[in-house]
Amino acid sequence: MTAKAKVAILISGQGSNMAALLYHARLADCPYEIALVASNNAHAPGLKLAEAEGIPIFVRPHKGMDRAAHDRIMDEAIRGAGAEYVALAGYMRILGDDFVAGWQDRMLNIHPSLLPRYRGLDTHKRAIEAGDTHAGCSVHLVTGELDDGPVLGQMQVATLPEDTPEKLATRVRYAEYQLYPRILAEYVGREMDVGWIEAQVNRLALALPETHFRPSHGSPGWRVGSEKSGKYFAHFSAHHHGSDAIGVLVKTGSIDELETLCEEQPEIYWKPAYYGASGWIGVRLNRANVDWDHVAEWLERSWRSVAPKRLTKLMDAAEEF
Ligand code: GRF
Repeated sequence: MTAKAKVAILISGQGSNMAALLYHARLADCPYEIALVASNNAHAPGLKLAEAEGIPIFVRPHKGMDRAAHDRIMDEAIRGAGAEYVALAGYMRILGDDFVAGWQDRMLNIHPSLLPRYRGLDTHKRAIEAGDTHAGCSVHLVTGELDDGPVLGQMQVATLPEDTPEKLATRVRYAEYQLYPRILAEYVGREMDVGWIEAQVNRLALALPETHFRPSHGSPGWRVGSEKSGKYFAHFSAHHHGSDAIGVLVKTGSIDELETLCEEQPEIYWKPAYYGASGWIGVRLNRANVDWDHVAEWLERSWRSVAPKRLTKLMDAAEEF
């Protein structure tokens, strides 16, 4: 069983989307759990519910504080709670660039319109006035631009002739409660998915010169050199010998280096059965916050240790530029 991704939810009001996310987290196969509910509004009704459900809460009103200082305090609380993702759910504060950059690709928001239509406020009124047959909601990644950022999922909601903004808002909320938990679960789950992880390793491994894919003992592997006489520089390992780790095996310089890394950073490295004895180290990839540049560096280093000289020389020359 892999650990669940930890999510902090930021609210300012009612918190009904927070409730939807929270109860979805109670389903046994949900890949995320709620680590914190934080608010800039001490009277946000959602806080009471979160507290009653045993979720840690954090409140810091922004009054009298500049944006950067308030953002920093929220950020500290979120990180202090161990959260790896942030889900905005009716958080009525514009977040500063530093905060947004610190959560790049890890912060989601739900917006009550079919983006790119109707960014900002009064979305339902605007949809009705435009005579749209469908309104809806969107879940998107948060970037520096308001209600912009890649859309991860949308759900349409039919408008009715007698709609008022309030009536439509109520129905859009029903859709929100279905959409947000599903998309959040898919998004955080993707990083723990063995197929997704293998695809990332495959892409990085095959980006190195003269490499090819060749399974070894039934597991994916990557070699450098010709199909005939190539040498392995990476093996894929998923739950090998009952281990919960999914990751890539690459060559270290020595057993000493391997042992030290495993001892100092056991959350990242492990010593694999059999392969470990000949200097292969496991880099764990089924965890949040994997630094894929770092994985690419390991692959290159491992590739260099077995690649023919003519190829490493080419690589050195290319890297000088
Ligand atoms: C929702 O309509 C959501 O789309 C928007 O803010 C509202 C939050 O409502 N971002 P609630 O606090 O979750 O009930």
